[in-house]
Parts: sequence; structure tokens; C-alpha cells
Amino acid sequence: FAKPVTAPVPQGGLRALRAQAADCRACPLWRHATATVFGEGPARAQAMLIGEQPGDEEDLAARPFVGPAGRLLDRALAEAGLDRRRLYLTNTVKHFKFRQRGKRRLHNRANAQEQEACRVWLAAEWLRLRPRLTVALGAMAAQTLFGAGFRLSRERGRWIELDTRSRALATWHPSAVLRTPPPERDRRYRELVQDLSLLAETLQ
Ligand code: URA
Repeated sequence: FAKPVTAPVPQGGLRALRAQAADCRACPLWRHATATVFGEGPARAQAMLIGEQPGDEEDLAARPFVGPAGRLLDRALAEAGLDRRRLYLTNTVKHFKFRQRGKRRLHNRANAQEQEACRVWLAAEWLRLRPRLTVALGAMAAQTLFGAGFRLSRERGRWIELDTRSRALATWHPSAVLRTPPPERDRRYRELVQDLSLLAETLQ
């Protein structure tokens, strides 16, 4: 991580960590969210994908990447020849943050304090898995790993050493792809698939 995690990092297996995270009160986001959306995937996964924060559908399902961004990610993973079930998928922030607009819950980006408060969970997951390869989806995850100066547009798509045993790369977030108007959207989608293909090749 770019900045050291100062709070004590919770220990234990993924199941124990998930149970502890369900009761996390380190920031106010738990109050309005339905669930803590903890990561999912095998403890022996060699690769970990880190998104930003859960959306409306993830909050209701208590699972990461099951809404529109998740469906785009699934398509990109399949095109890159990756099997989602063999990867560990998680988020930088584990609670949905939103503002209510009538019946709709509109996404709000978690602020720096909320991201900071949640970093112990990401650290705990990462230390439990010690994945050989990590992919940061989007700027929030990339900056958590590489520092606030990291620029996705310039530095995406190449491996950066985290320590002697592990490397990470950053790529577009699927939600950012969805938000980009065409024809740029298609180019970003191709780049996402290209970067995930790099993961697929390196995993072999
Ligand atoms: N966007 C994310 O970053 N994570 C999710 O789980 C869903 C959407």
C-alpha cells in the first residue's frame, strides 16, 4: 500500500474477517447501507481484483460486482479468457454510499476518511491471500496501492512490483467505461480487456 496502514489489521481466515467486517463502525457508512459487501473468491486465488465501492445492487445482494459494472466486468473477463470463480474480487470501500432521490439511491463517492477507515479490511484480505497478482480497477484502488499521484490515463496496463513476490497493475474501472460516451467508451473497453488479458497471460 502506498501509505502504511496505521490501525491494527484484523487477523484470521476470510470467513472470520468477513464476520468482523459485518460489524465495522469505523466510518458512518454502515448506518444507511444494507450490508457490508466483503470480497468474494477462493482464499487460494492467485489474483485479486480491487474495485471502488459497492453500488445499489451489490448492497442489496451483499456481493461485489453484481450490478451493471459487474456485468460489464464479467464480459471483459470472459473475453480475456479469465474465470471469475478463480479470482478474488473485492472493493476499496465495503459499504454503499448514496443519496436518496425519491425511490432511487444515487451513488456517492466515498471520501478520503471513509476510504482510509476501510483500508484495514483491504489490507487484511490482501495479507490473507498474498496474491501473486493484483489488479486495481479504477483510480480509487490504484491510488490506494500506488499513491495519490498515480494517473490511470498515463500509467494503466503495466505491472508494477509491490514486493518481491507480487505485482499489481491498474486499469479502467468498468463503471468508468460505462460512463464514457462513445466512441471513447469502446476504446476504454478494449483497453480493459487488453489489461485483463495481460493478467490471464501472467497467470498461466
Ligand atoms: N463498482 C465497484 O467498484 N464495485 C462493485 O462491487 C460494484 C461496482
